[in-house]
Amino acid sequence: MRIIDMEQIGDVINELEWLGPVEKSLDAVAETTLNQKNSFMQQVRNFLHGTWLGHPLHPVITDVPLGAWTTAAVLDLYEFASGDKKFSRGADMAVGIGLIGAAGAAVAGLNDWQFTNDKPKRVGAMHAVFNLSATAFYLASWLERRRGNRASGIANGLAGFALSLGGAWLGGHLVYQEKIGVNHAPQQLPEKFVAIMPLEELPPGKLCRARAGDVDLVLFRRGERIYALAEKCAHLGGPLAEGKIEGLSVRCPWHGSRFSLENGRVLDGPAAYDQPCLAVRVRNGLIEVRDARVSRNARRAE
Ligand code: FES
Repeated sequence: MRIIDMEQIGDVINELEWLGPVEKSLDAVAETTLNQKNSFMQQVRNFLHGTWLGHPLHPVITDVPLGAWTTAAVLDLYEFASGDKKFSRGADMAVGIGLIGAAGAAVAGLNDWQFTNDKPKRVGAMHAVFNLSATAFYLASWLERRRGNRASGIANGLAGFALSLGGAWLGGHLVYQEKIGVNHAPQQLPEKFVAIMPLEELPPGKLCRARAGDVDLVLFRRGERIYALAEKCAHLGGPLAEGKIEGLSVRCPWHGSRFSLENGRVLDGPAAYDQPCLAVRVRNGLIEVRDARVSRNARRAE
């Protein structure tokens, strides 16, 4: 028996009009703090997206506040139930560590959230409301503990813990239901060379869409060389064939992720994953492609 219908929850949150101004405020904060158009800020955004990690950074950092605040809640409940204060310093420290982790998770989360749209963006705003509220309670908890008001510190901490669980649940919804942070590029590429189009139909210097079996591809021809990547952007499935060429890379038209045409490596986020790349050859005037990993392995085996 299912307790909560995940899809319905997303729809309900999407209808909450009071989240509109919250979204606008978060967008304004992201715009002024993270979204400046210079190469230094691009590197900062890349770091926060996790392009260097091959995986989004935000869910890695969220383990810090959740783990620390779970520890604090267990120690607080022990103190509350037994009156024994021997773990109170540990609980206070866990609250503080959780606050530091929450600040990092919030920055990385905001950086990812600003490049979402529609329902996932609205659900993400609700996720932020839960987590910011949890952090506010934990801040109050930490201050009360420093003032020696243990009962109030513990009460604020437990309220924050309940909110952080709500935020974590919505974070799971964003990944598993709304598919935010997962790899949207196709993973199954042809293992054997397949012909996709006559060479003469591929104009030089222009991105061109093609198809190999079930997989949409983007092709680019420069001189004798032809490059091929999966067309659906790893970030949220944007059409790379409608993107922009920058040197030997292609920039996604939806949120600006940039991938190397030579090997599919992600050069700029918000994508955190590389784009699947295909090896290309020309036989009898036809362009043929196969999964570049197969070609690499074949070269290594020779
Ligand atoms: S879909 Fe978001 S950058 Fe491509």
